[in-house]
Amino acid sequence: MNFYPQLTKEEVLEKSRKYSLYTWVAQKDASSIAVERGEGVYFWDYDGTRYFDMNAQQVNNNIGFNNKKVIQAIQRQAEKLCYVSPRYTTDVRALLAEKIIRDIAPDHMKKVMFTLGGADANEYAIRMCKAFTGRDKIFSQYDAYHGSTYGACNLTGQRKRSSANPQIPGFIKFWGPNRDMKEEFPDEASRTAFYLKTLRDQILNEGSENVSAIFFETIAGSTGAIIPPKGYYEGVRKICDEFGILMVCDEVMVGFGRTGKWFACENFDFKPDIITFAKGATCGYVPLGGVLVTQEIADFFEDTALPCGLTYNSHALGCATALAVIEVYEEEKLLERSAEMGKYLSARLNEIKAAHPSVYDVRCLGLMSAFELQPSMKSQELFNTVLDKLKQEKCTTFGYDCSFLIAPPLTVTKDELEEGLRAVNKVLDYTDTLL
Ligand SMILES: Cc1ncc(COP(=O)(O)O)c(C=O)c1O
Repeated sequence: MNFYPQLTKEEVLEKSRKYSLYTWVAQKDASSIAVERGEGVYFWDYDGTRYFDMNAQQVNNNIGFNNKKVIQAIQRQAEKLCYVSPRYTTDVRALLAEKIIRDIAPDHMKKVMFTLGGADANEYAIRMCKAFTGRDKIFSQYDAYHGSTYGACNLTGQRKRSSANPQIPGFIKFWGPNRDMKEEFPDEASRTAFYLKTLRDQILNEGSENVSAIFFETIAGSTGAIIPPKGYYEGVRKICDEFGILMVCDEVMVGFGRTGKWFACENFDFKPDIITFAKGATCGYVPLGGVLVTQEIADFFEDTALPCGLTYNSHALGCATALAVIEVYEEEKLLERSAEMGKYLSARLNEIKAAHPSVYDVRCLGLMSAFELQPSMKSQELFNTVLDKLKQEKCTTFGYDCSFLIAPPLTVTKDELEEGLRAVNKVLDYTDTLL
């Protein structure tokens, strides 16, 4: 059943280009794929060309395309009730909140607020931290990505935040270990100690009594799966406790199974005060995100009004979708799969590194992984060439500087993964010739 005219691939691309704006690119450089359908880890364009989705779209489609269970849940909910004001509530909101707090979030997380996506989850987290602590300054790392709305963009420490310059007063950037310079330290312990001291000094210089919260991408995602050194988060937790600062983990990309645990912070030995999530909660079938808070923060908002809200918070379609998606995670044991396939992928990536001198580093935790080219090769031109060449091999991903993500749906099989790695090997044969 079609409610609109059938378009050719050329018409889809032409009308999209003529009447819509693409994000993050100069419009003349927008090179898009007109996608007609998807199934599992693959999607097809209007010519029938099949692509391997090596980064699960935006590292969100953890269950893969066209999951019938989730589609049926959306259809059922749409027929029953698409939307009510967030002032009212629904069975799906109640059930999803209970499921997340009881079975999914770390035990010390006691309440959840549902948002539309990741950036607004971080917006709310900022506002909650400021209200809870009565302090103004918010710390986040250079090079981190926290979203593209105005406040989240001020958290973001990448160059692409420039359209939000000058920064809103009170948003303070610091260098943390997501700036990868391992070789500059004799060992992991001294790397940890260096970044902890840098952070503590900066807090003291900003006046610790003014600092409300420190935000982290638990594993830095879009910059290339950067895993902090041992003891770093545990040390940050101590600093936060010393000065009464809240510690916020942005798990928008790595929450919901990506690293083999529901939340990536569970790979370490510390407890954040707030966790934000989005992508994997609904895997892109319908938008939904959220903010998880501790009992103490939840209690604070018993008497103090929550100072934020949007028309579409706790959207019924989003909540119904997340409930079905969580069932898929559980039935298909996707966390276990992510952890196991991650071990396989990690070993294969190390083999690839050994075989290709143009590879500087590989990083992997669960199915969050990346390969990085030699720093001397860093250029926008080579970055675009690598993505183009992967696309020619019918394999899509994205990256940052000279790092490229390998983060397929968690449903990926070894054979499917190998197909992607064959494409990667081919492109690395080319980058080796540039040395
Ligand atoms: C770590 C992180 N935080 C926040 C966001 C923003 O999420 P959204 O695009 O859903 O607003 C992203 C998106 O990629 C992300 O990776």
